[in-house]
Amino acid sequence: MTKKWRDVGTLYQIYPRSFQDTDSDGIGDIPGIISRLDYIASVADAIWLAPIYASPQKDFGYDVSSYVDIQPEYGTLADFDRLVQYSHDRNIKVMMDLTPNHTSEEHEWFKESRSSRDNSKRDWYVWRDPKEDGSAPNNWVSLSGGKAWTFDEVTGQYYLHSWMSHQPDLNWANPDMRQAMLDAMRFWLDRGVDGFRIDAVWVLAKNEAYLDDPVRPGGDTENYSGYDHTMCRNGDRLNEYLKYMADVVAEYDDRLMILEYYSSHEFGDSNTQLYNLQSIAPDVCTTFFFDAMQWPFSAEAMGQGITNYLLNMPENSLPVFCFGNHDQTRMINRFGGEDQARLIATMQLTLPGLPCVYYGEEIGMRDGYIPEGKGQDGFGGGGMMSGRDPERTPMQWSGGFQAGFTDSNDPWLPVGESYVDRNVESEETEAVSFLKLYRTLIDMRRDNELFRNGQFVLLGFDNNILAYDIVDGESKYSVMLNFADYEQSVYVEGQAIVSSLTVKDGLVGKNGQTVLRPFEAILVAY
Ligand code: GLC
Repeated sequence: MTKKWRDVGTLYQIYPRSFQDTDSDGIGDIPGIISRLDYIASVADAIWLAPIYASPQKDFGYDVSSYVDIQPEYGTLADFDRLVQYSHDRNIKVMMDLTPNHTSEEHEWFKESRSSRDNSKRDWYVWRDPKEDGSAPNNWVSLSGGKAWTFDEVTGQYYLHSWMSHQPDLNWANPDMRQAMLDAMRFWLDRGVDGFRIDAVWVLAKNEAYLDDPVRPGGDTENYSGYDHTMCRNGDRLNEYLKYMADVVAEYDDRLMILEYYSSHEFGDSNTQLYNLQSIAPDVCTTFFFDAMQWPFSAEAMGQGITNYLLNMPENSLPVFCFGNHDQTRMINRFGGEDQARLIATMQLTLPGLPCVYYGEEIGMRDGYIPEGKGQDGFGGGGMMSGRDPERTPMQWSGGFQAGFTDSNDPWLPVGESYVDRNVESEETEAVSFLKLYRTLIDMRRDNELFRNGQFVLLGFDNNILAYDIVDGESKYSVMLNFADYEQSVYVEGQAIVSSLTVKDGLVGKNGQTVLRPFEAILVAY
């Protein structure tokens, strides 16, 4: 029996293409994930797989050509069923990725839709006439760079794509299309899948009159940042559309969907909207909380921001703190070093809710170096996201050939240089390692409900030390995080039991007046 979602200690994001290759084509696959389930069980109670659906891989699976099939380079449906079964045998839940906003241009739905204006699936996508001068229906630009409209010669209309032209947007206003998508969800839920990570929800609903986005004063109209995206995102019907999905998830026992939503984007998204999304169906639906990954590395920014988020969150909502994913530079690069990343990990894994760990964070992987000509990400300049290869390099299993990821001489992305001393094999045996820190904290979360469902109480952030308690009735732990790059003394009332720098060593006697080393975080028990 897997745990209930509310009792899951950590959710682990796997980028299947980069996790483990078993057929020597340089691309990770489902049998590879299966072969690593014992390891996964040591760090997580649930996995989220980036898309493995049939796809031409122009956006590595976020361009789906069939929602009810597996891309052959990853394996077969039978492999997938085995993955679900073997995961469940080890008490690991399996969450799939769902991209409801767009398909690949190679999806049968789009092929039909583009074939003629009278096709029954024409309205499943967003088609509009050119303006009189032949130009695009409005000024919207795509998140991956360039215009959001492409003219289709065959039928003389433009279709909308919030990302690349290979990724036409579906029209959620069309009930038949919606039904087909909800049926696809049921297809996987019936196979035992425990939930979905829902991709890019902010664009699912648009302004229904398709009005121009306002250009910012002095804004570069070729660039995504040149506009206030008040029309192309967060349309009035967004909650309604998401509720349809949540209702499907709620038909099954203990399933969950987590929405991708960046409230700190400067593009018209907001915390109000984030909470709004979290209130849709709090029992079965929540959002990732990404804001903290964009905040400055400071006790005040983190302390205030986290308090604010948790205090204002809708009742019964499940917070999902997240500091990395396949679209974002890795934690070590983002926060300036390994010690800083260890501090953030200690914070993440002691905050309430369901923390999401991106593969490799737990061994201290940093962004890989991608030599000229080796890049794979199709997203170009001018978009909101571009150049995401460095955070997608292969999982570092060992210090051996291709870090143990593949037998191939030519992995789809080169192995990151850090594999020599940041890999699972060596970290299993080192006295002090990222992996030891993660496992120690993850075990505590798993064993102790207080960490998952306790109350966060801010103690302060003076002198760049963030201090908080996690409280549940009479029980309490404290966390002290020294964001400063110099030593500072703190008063520890209980007994320090974990240090982000040395895990468990060196803590004996760490009570009373105690020196925190630069970027050291400690967990204190009473
Ligand atoms: C989301 C995904 C990203 C993808 C985009 C388009 O932001 O996380 O990887 O490229 O949506 O589907």
